[in-house]
Amino acid sequence: MIDIQSAIQSIQSATNSIDLQTTFDAFLGKKGQLAELFKKLAVASPEEKKELGQTLSTAKEQITSAYLSKAKELQIAEINIQLESDIVDSTIPAAQRPTGHASLLTQTRREVEELCHNMWFIVEHGHDIVTKFENFTSLNIPLTHPATEMHDTLYMDQTDPDGAQLLLRTHTTSLQNSLIKKYGLPLKVVMPGKVYRNENTDATHDTTFYQLDGIVIDKNITIGHMIQTMKTIIGALVNEDSSPRSTARVEVRTRPAYFPFVEPGIEMDARYPIIDENGNKTRSKWMEIVWAGMIHPEVLIQAGIDPSEYNGFAFGFGINRLVAVRHSIKDIRYFTNGDLRFVKSF
Ligand code: DAH
Repeated sequence: MIDIQSAIQSIQSATNSIDLQTTFDAFLGKKGQLAELFKKLAVASPEEKKELGQTLSTAKEQITSAYLSKAKELQIAEINIQLESDIVDSTIPAAQRPTGHASLLTQTRREVEELCHNMWFIVEHGHDIVTKFENFTSLNIPLTHPATEMHDTLYMDQTDPDGAQLLLRTHTTSLQNSLIKKYGLPLKVVMPGKVYRNENTDATHDTTFYQLDGIVIDKNITIGHMIQTMKTIIGALVNEDSSPRSTARVEVRTRPAYFPFVEPGIEMDARYPIIDENGNKTRSKWMEIVWAGMIHPEVLIQAGIDPSEYNGFAFGFGINRLVAVRHSIKDIRYFTNGDLRFVKSF
């Protein structure tokens, strides 16, 4: 016969769930002790059957219940062991990953954008790829005009859906026409972005650089508005505190200049401190900072505007040049050559 007590004891003394299962199977598995006894039951006499049947079902019940409670106990113990070994110490400092930072050009572009935004200009980046119309014709630059050669354009093989040949914009001025059409008038918008020229590079020329163009169009705009706006922007940039309040501190001068899309056109210089090797301000020098002018009537007509009703001014400057002047950088190719010593010093 089976000794229920010792069966229960051996179940209770199992130390892990595999051990427990083996012990349980030894009694109640297919080939276990009880299975053998149940076989005997089948061939027993009716009197024996009754007694043996009772004993076996009591044994089965008690062993199974001992097994279930032991299984639960072991499961809890095993979970606890796992939890203990899985402890995460959230006070350990995280691994430091090196993070990059915005380049000097991007920092400056954002600074100028923010300045213009604070002066109520819309900021629009446009597309790097434009049509000949946007880059030249809409700006009163006929394709036969020598100015198109001045720009050394990079043409693309592709055309736009209307069949117009595409090119990489040579100046952000190329956005004027589409933005006038997009927003209507009156309008104040600046267009910062990358421009491309097919040029030999040297310390002051690169094939890719950033410009920022702006236009103000309304009724009765004067050269006075233009000069004052330029002084405000240059003042904030020259004095490096990005605040339109710093206007008073900048000294500027204007010279006539020719651009087909403005009449009259000017170049504006600002007096700029020269920083010596030790970071001290030594002298100051006139630096050409911005180009501007009153928008040519033809440019307005190309955008569907009646020049007898509206007029305005346009301006543009090179962000790379501005950064070079501000930080006394001698070679503008540093901006794009990826030299980490340069990148990390700003
Ligand atoms: N687009 C000219 C260039 O890249 C710069 C320029 C001159 C922009 C006069 C203007 C402007 O908006 O009024 O050389």
